[in-house]
Amino acid sequence: LEGERVIILANREPYIHEKTPDGVKVLHPASGLVTALEPVMRACSGVWVAHGSGSADKETADARAHVKVPPGEESYSLRRVWLSEAEENGYYYGFSNEGLWPLCHVAHARPVFRAEDWEHYVRVNRKFADAVCEEVDTEDPIILVQDYHFALAPRMIRERLPRATILTFWHIPWPSAERIGICPWREEIIQGLLGSSIVGFHTQQHCNNFIEAVDTFMESRIDREANAIVQGSRRSLVRPYPISIEWPVHWLEELPSVGACRRSVREELGLPEDALMGVGIDRLDYTKGIEERLQAVDALLTRHPEFRGRFTFVQLAAPSRTKIARYRELNDRVEALADEINARWGGGAYRPIVLLRAHHEPPTVFRYYRAAELCYVSSLHDGMNLVAKEFVAARDDENGVLVLSQFTGAARDLTEALIVNPYDLGQAGDAMAAALRMPEEEQRERMLSMRRMVSEFNVYRWAGRMLVDAAELRRRERVSG
Ligand code: G6P
Repeated sequence: LEGERVIILANREPYIHEKTPDGVKVLHPASGLVTALEPVMRACSGVWVAHGSGSADKETADARAHVKVPPGEESYSLRRVWLSEAEENGYYYGFSNEGLWPLCHVAHARPVFRAEDWEHYVRVNRKFADAVCEEVDTEDPIILVQDYHFALAPRMIRERLPRATILTFWHIPWPSAERIGICPWREEIIQGLLGSSIVGFHTQQHCNNFIEAVDTFMESRIDREANAIVQGSRRSLVRPYPISIEWPVHWLEELPSVGACRRSVREELGLPEDALMGVGIDRLDYTKGIEERLQAVDALLTRHPEFRGRFTFVQLAAPSRTKIARYRELNDRVEALADEINARWGGGAYRPIVLLRAHHEPPTVFRYYRAAELCYVSSLHDGMNLVAKEFVAARDDENGVLVLSQFTGAARDLTEALIVNPYDLGQAGDAMAAALRMPEEEQRERMLSMRRMVSEFNVYRWAGRMLVDAAELRRRERVSG
């Protein structure tokens, strides 16, 4: 990867400049996409094209909307694209997050498709595709298009740069053809993606679903043996690339030992030194199963009385997409549920649920991973889920237990986690009890095996595999063309 100049197109920027009473602050957003891609960009040189969403972003960028990042150790450029409020509402909140997000996550939220949102989505995709083309300095650049915000951009870029290598990665699930068929613009979405040299998903199942959608809704020829879609002389490979995290995680360099993290977190929360602790780290999103998670804590305390008064579950929940009513309602429900469970089992200074509803910077998140006996990831549906992998990376003491939803891509990689159905509250409660009782020896065995997995299949490997496949595709095209 080193020295490879790539252009990333992703809606979310890796560094957000925010105005605060103490001056401008740089924030690292809670986003699995950013967690994965930012280290890749630091290893390469190039440009990250993203929506400039911070209140001080305009002031910190130059006249061409560029800023060098990471702050203090500049290795690549961030090119910010400005969106009007109407564009952000239609493209980001509307079509992306009220349409495609619930469409692709089978988490019982009905997608909303408004024609005005779609029009914004098309226009904003064109705007970003144009920004990408402005950043290009060769005829055959490598462009990494990220996620469901940009289903149309690959084709738009292809029209202007026929020789570009466009690698598109879809960070969320791709559901069955029947489900995708709900979208009034399903053909346009698929046709847009087929502008890519490679369309990548987390799992083979998502690839199969995508190919099935092409088969159902498009005229294109499918080369099933090669897992490729053929349109005229062009082919798009459809491949699984399970995403991962950097290894080692650079945030850990500055963190105190696990023992010191345990003490400082317990002190911060006013918990006794020997308190047993579980942790959950998420954006406040209905796909993450946060309500089911709190209910599972309730089940744990109901079914395993020995943990009453001793076990505390700490949920770090970053507010997300709060302009959308469903997200605000979730926020209220989670808060009410935490209060209810605390009223049922709490007493004196003891509260079984600590809900910290705020954005937390990565060093804090990693301190909490290190302080906990267990981490419970209860997503109802999740492409990969990098919280699970971050927890494993954080535990260089080789202790701690991961309880993981079977509906995450990560459950395929981290088979030594305690895998649960998050809807089965009793099972999840029992799994947390088993985690709290697990002998150190067994914790170590499981953690070691998961650490081996994540360290080997890290995000550099993920990007490298896509680039190798792209090189092979370029070679074939040269030979046949
Ligand atoms: C998921 C999506 C990412 C997104 C992240 C955070 O991981 O796949 O594209 O960046 O959620 O959501 P946000 O809407 O805040 O960018």
